[in-house]
Amino acid sequence: MAPTLELPGRALVVLVGPAGAGKSTLAERHFAPSEVLSSDAIRAELTGDPGDQRVTRRAFELLDRRLEARLAAGRTCVVDATNVTAAARHSLLRIARVHRTPAVAIVLALDPAIVRARNAGRDRVVPAEAVARHHAALDAALRGDAFRREGFAAVLVLETPEAVEAFRISRRVAPPD
Ligand code: CTP
Ligand code: MG
Repeated sequence: MAPTLELPGRALVVLVGPAGAGKSTLAERHFAPSEVLSSDAIRAELTGDPGDQRVTRRAFELLDRRLEARLAAGRTCVVDATNVTAAARHSLLRIARVHRTPAVAIVLALDPAIVRARNAGRDRVVPAEAVARHHAALDAALRGDAFRREGFAAVLVLETPEAVEAFRISRRVAPPD
């Protein structure tokens, strides 16, 4: 059966995966642009460069503020950032709790060789050491069943390109245009 995520009426959807794993591609395919908050897009707003790490902190402050506003307005919101560390997920989950919004995680846990090849083959190449750190953090989280313990209502782990391709979302409420 195709891996399917049942989306409650409104939700916080946290994408998780190393740089190059395909988070933005998945977000674009399955969600409306107005549902997605992307750390890269916010960095680009601030400096013109989505990879400009000097503004990472400000970008995440802004992302958190926008997430607050969207959840307060009752919208479903997708966070497109690596989210491989517990600290990154913690602030998102705290905001979801404040707004009584269920949080679900879509985890892209692909073979590191596939991710490395994708990362190397695009315009904005993330340093290999950073991608290796992302994989290590994600492996540790999956081994320790961290996502459930942190409070995610559902966790969907996609481990192969075929699973990502077959992935479907079933919504109780229609997405915006
Ligand atoms: N890609 C692909 N097939 C997929 C998904 C992605 O070939 N099923 C390619 C994309 O075209 C892109 C690269 O892999 O060139 C990385 O995908 P992207 O969605 O940008 O990955 P992200 O996880 O969003 O990476 P980042 O964290 O750096 O934004
Ligand atoms: Mg991306």
